[in-house]
Amino acid sequence: AVRIAQLFQNEEAHKEKEVTIQGWVRTRRDSKAGISFIEVNDGSCLRNLQVIAERTDPELTRVVDRLATGCSVQVRGVVKPSPGKGQSIEVHAREIVLFGWADPAIYPLQKKRHSFEFLRTIAHLRPRTNTLGAVARLRNRLSFAVHQFFQKEGFVYVHTPIITSSDCEGAGEVFRVTTLDPANPPSPQGRDGNLYSLDFFEKPAFLTVSGQLQAEIYALALGKVYTFGPTFRAENSNTSRHLAEFWMIEPEMAFYDLQDNLELAQSFIKYVISAVLEDCAEDLQLFARFVEPTLMETLETLVRETFEVITYTEAVELLKKSGESFDYPVEWGSDLQSEHERYLTEKKFRKPVAIIHFPRAIKPFYMRVNEDEKTVAAMDVLVPRVGEIIGGSQREERLDVLLQQMELKGIPVEEYQWYVDLRRFGSAPHSGFGLGLERLVQFATGLGNIREVIPFPRTPGHAEF
Ligand code: 4AD
Ligand code: MG
Repeated sequence: AVRIAQLFQNEEAHKEKEVTIQGWVRTRRDSKAGISFIEVNDGSCLRNLQVIAERTDPELTRVVDRLATGCSVQVRGVVKPSPGKGQSIEVHAREIVLFGWADPAIYPLQKKRHSFEFLRTIAHLRPRTNTLGAVARLRNRLSFAVHQFFQKEGFVYVHTPIITSSDCEGAGEVFRVTTLDPANPPSPQGRDGNLYSLDFFEKPAFLTVSGQLQAEIYALALGKVYTFGPTFRAENSNTSRHLAEFWMIEPEMAFYDLQDNLELAQSFIKYVISAVLEDCAEDLQLFARFVEPTLMETLETLVRETFEVITYTEAVELLKKSGESFDYPVEWGSDLQSEHERYLTEKKFRKPVAIIHFPRAIKPFYMRVNEDEKTVAAMDVLVPRVGEIIGGSQREERLDVLLQQMELKGIPVEEYQWYVDLRRFGSAPHSGFGLGLERLVQFATGLGNIREVIPFPRTPGHAEF
């Protein structure tokens, strides 16, 4: 069988040839002239393939009559130029095999627009919609571009652990890993059972919030590394840009300072967005038409323009002078809220903005302390519509300053001896950052809610599927 995307890519080569395609029926329409038009989608691209079935062959007609939205089929037929609007080729069916029928009386996806809220309740069927199918293809292309970029730049892909006893961000937003009593386990169906009965890891163990600390180990041996894996945050916040389980890309580079780190972040985002602009034009058009009218402009601006770089102190000044009435007041020393990020990227600069040198008090222990001793060499990259997409920093490589920072932030040195050791044996300046894949997919699609850009979103109260 041939994928429908391949047919469209190579129309000339397939004309007048017999092909077999496999997919799911989107719609069927029967004309008075005795022809059935069947739209088939196989997920390889946004476009449906139009299948023409002449109702003269009784065998074929018997199958066609049963076809409804959602049925899975295999069609063997000849590729012909299409006289119809909206497509240049169609397939004239010789044989149609119906693999799985879908009862139109109860199949939840019908030919109309369903709300994203409704689609979330049918996460097992939503990838069959145009929008969620396009999200999956874009997410795939972005993920592949991540590897392409770092591999071409000579980075080594490192797998950091999911289960760990460290809390990288020190924010206490960790999920604890427990083991069950095999004699009396709790069940997903709601039986309580016994938790904590066996402490398999002996000491408390958590799901990782970030692979950074382990990536630092490898950067200080291999030079340039990156991780790309799931991370977990037990933040009890129901926002349109937070998930309890999300995928993070974390490069970590020895001998890089904050400036090098910023430049890498910028060329990295430009590279992955260029990849989707080049390879996913059809899917992007769907989002530009139905989801976010400014989409192409914001993507093209990101690729074309140099990011604005300002210090946190400058950002606070700009926000204070803005004349906007924010819900959260801006004071030097407080974290920037999403409304502030949107003002800077959408109103003030109208392009991506990197904010550097944040107050030491609001950032984690590992960030390098600046000469003023009040700020750290942090960087957040903000993009229009989404806000913070990257968080990173130069790391504290000086043993004495790191120990001071740990003391100040209440990080137990005994538990991070290995991390301290890295500053004792061949320490080197180094930097890195983390990019949330879902925030990137949000930016690339214009989708307002992060729950739409991951196949199975995990948010407070939601672990279905
Ligand atoms: O700013 P964060 O918390 O930084 C770190 O975890 C660093 N250790 C990264 C590093 O330097 N290696 O998270 C980094 C990025 C954010 O900018 C955001 O894009 C994403 O991860 N992110 C989330 N995405 C979805 N849901 C959440 N709850 C997220 N928390 C962070
Ligand atoms: Mg952050």
